Amino acid sequence: MKRQRWGSRWAFILAAVGSAAGLGNAWRFPYKAYTNGGGAFYIPYFIALFVAGIPLLMAEFAVGQSLQSSAPKAMAKINKKVEFIGWWGIVTSSLVTFYYSVIMGWIFNYLIFSFNVSWKENPETFFLEFLQRSSGPGEIGNIVIPVAIGLAITWLFVYIVLRKGTESVGKVVLWTVPLPIILLIILGIRGFTLEGASTGLDYLFNPSLEKLSSPSVWAEGFGQIFYSLSVAFGIMIAYGSFNKKKQDIANNAIITALGNSATSFLAAIAVFSVLGYMANVLSVKVPEVVTGGIGLAFVTYPQAIALLPGGIVVQAIFGFLFFVMLLTLGIDSVFSLVEAIESSFSDKFNFKKKKFLGIFMGIGFIMGLFFSTQGGIFWLDIFDHFLGTYALLMVGIFETIIFGWVMGAENIRDYINEVSEIKIGKWFNIAIKYIIPIVLSIIFVNGLIDEIK
Ligand code: PHE
Repeated sequence: MKRQRWGSRWAFILAAVGSAAGLGNAWRFPYKAYTNGGGAFYIPYFIALFVAGIPLLMAEFAVGQSLQSSAPKAMAKINKKVEFIGWWGIVTSSLVTFYYSVIMGWIFNYLIFSFNVSWKENPETFFLEFLQRSSGPGEIGNIVIPVAIGLAITWLFVYIVLRKGTESVGKVVLWTVPLPIILLIILGIRGFTLEGASTGLDYLFNPSLEKLSSPSVWAEGFGQIFYSLSVAFGIMIAYGSFNKKKQDIANNAIITALGNSATSFLAAIAVFSVLGYMANVLSVKVPEVVTGGIGLAFVTYPQAIALLPGGIVVQAIFGFLFFVMLLTLGIDSVFSLVEAIESSFSDKFNFKKKKFLGIFMGIGFIMGLFFSTQGGIFWLDIFDHFLGTYALLMVGIFETIIFGWVMGAENIRDYINEVSEIKIGKWFNIAIKYIIPIVLSIIFVNGLIDEIK
């Protein structure tokens, strides 16, 4: 079977940025920064970006592109015994897809709610009934029909776009990558010019340096970079494998990584300036209005929007823009997840694309229904926490050992330098062979210990 190809270099870069910039940038990053020391969080964040994120992104592009295979097959080509590491990444990707698509389903619903700005009145009802938050895993509640519909729309859309593979992904990302960035700029400007914005931003940027002595803050920093760059999932290997063998790598990886971080910062400013305003209007402190993780996007932000000056029309518009932003931000991450999973199966078992997509869509839908029931949301939080941090760290450790020691960091570097405009130095070998696996191992162990405490 002929391998599918990106239509152009930019189709590839946009698709990679699209995968990296997702829901994680909009609510995960601001929230992680806020809870892990505000401005101090950027120290682990940037160290993780330059020491681990960018080198690993380059290595994944290089492995996929040079071996022309998605993750499991690429691993098998390096050494038969390590094929399972590729599959491990794919299993993680599948689990992420299942909960990610539920969030997309919520967003579809909130798009419609934005025309009926009743958020201010009853945020708790949404939390309890719509999101079905429960206190334990045992409570299985009803399926929420609007969520099921949103979920179905999401999967249908994914199916329609992915049916034609990279060719149509390349076209869709021309829209779905720039649009959320433009919207974030608009939302950011609105937020920034509100009274009290600076109090919100203080929480995001004022450094609490003492937090840096906590290992879990470092684990979160590295976890956020990995999750955010979509590395250690097998995704960037698959995306690289749809390039011709001569495509640039170093430059493409740097553009992808910086584009992704810029999106995170924009999102953090947009979200926290509005929270500052909200705290100001309600005469409370910012921590009192912040809810964790998902709640930030679906409860707190809408509540803040319902307080915006200018009346109900303005509020509806900003609510709508926010959820269009989330939707377009998230959708290309789903494409990349499903594309990586699909190509792994078709590389290995010669599955027909449409057939696989049909089956996977069905499984995804059913899993999504589960996550959208009562006990489901509880699991979703746990999944996000453990997959987003520890499962990724594990794959990252194994992956870099395989790249660095089995395939040979020097071989990867040679290949990168052969095809790239920017030449990379020997630091790359040191990063892949020593720094990343060692640092990740330390962080992994310490983070876990911290967790148990
Ligand atoms: N990088 C995406 C985000 O930040 C999440 C993601 C992870 C998407 C892995 C695809 C694969 O939201």
